[in-house]
Amino acid sequence: MDIDPNEHRSQAGFPVDQPLEALKADHAFVRQLFERYTTTQDMKVKEEAGPRILELLEMHANLEETVFYPAVHQIDPSLVDHAEQEHQEARQMMEQLKGMQAGTAQYDQMMVQLRDSVMHHVQSEEQSLFPKVQQAGMDMTQLGVQMQAYEASMVTAQARASDKHAT
Ligand SMILES: [Fe+2]
Ligand SMILES: [Fe+2]
Repeated sequence: MDIDPNEHRSQAGFPVDQPLEALKADHAFVRQLFERYTTTQDMKVKEEAGPRILELLEMHANLEETVFYPAVHQIDPSLVDHAEQEHQEARQMMEQLKGMQAGTAQYDQMMVQLRDSVMHHVQSEEQSLFPKVQQAGMDMTQLGVQMQAYEASMVTAQARASDKHAT
């Protein structure tokens, strides 16, 4: 199965001068995927959407934890620390889901829990953290360049890994 968790980026690429918009685009895309997963009865759709959600969330969490959060930590340390805790909670659920079969009742249940937790987190980022970052007067393009480079390195690493699986 050929899955590109970054397909929502492929048209315009990473918006270097507006890195917050890139994060919001991830949020919107994962919201769509959760919607797709939780509203279908079609096993094939669930089997595709489930792993895709996990893959997108993992890349997004890596991007935030490795580049974005450290860059904005000083703006509001307790808010960013709290966001990281929420990532850890989501990662625990994601780890469990990876070992489960998409479409089973257990998986469906945990997917709903993950959705609720992620959507709560996303709302807090978009309503509390991002506005503070926007107002902090930092060089957004510099941050965007770093985020773009990190994301590109993840995509390359992932492409290499899936090449290996294919051969
Ligand atoms: Fe986050
Ligand atoms: Fe986020």
